[in-house]
Amino acid sequence: MATNRTFTMIKPDAVENGHIGAILEKITASGFRIVALKLTQMTVADAKEFYAVHSERPFYGELVEFMSRGPIVAAILEKENAVEDFRTLIGATNPADAAEGTIRKLYATSLGENAVHGSDSDENAAIEGAFHFSGRELF
Ligand code: CMP
Repeated sequence: MATNRTFTMIKPDAVENGHIGAILEKITASGFRIVALKLTQMTVADAKEFYAVHSERPFYGELVEFMSRGPIVAAILEKENAVEDFRTLIGATNPADAAEGTIRKLYATSLGENAVHGSDSDENAAIEGAFHFSGRELF
């Protein structure tokens, strides 16, 4: 059965470009409740571990460098059907393919720097949320 939580990051490009407020507004206006939230920065080691599933992909080095180059906003979000609904809200991985009105269409600049992360399964949402937050940071 689907759980009702997902994990997201506002990535360094969107933070650098001043989109934190607009993205959080779009998330909450779309019916997601913020369960946990922080401004933080991943070390190179953190990013390597977080994206270990992509370690054999040609873009892994670029991805690790990008995700550790500046602050991110990490959040756990709650809503019925959270994983799927959030992926609809953010749009396709490549902003060129993202639907009008989606967060990536509005705020992402490229496939590599695509503004936001959204978990792809309930299992990964739990793993990724636990990577960034302790139990006492969830509300
Ligand atoms: P996301 O799905 O949040 O997490 C994995 C990221 O890898 C993905 O977003 C993209 O930003 C990035 N990515 C996927 N495919 C490529 C690619 N071909 N070149 C560069 N980056 C990529």
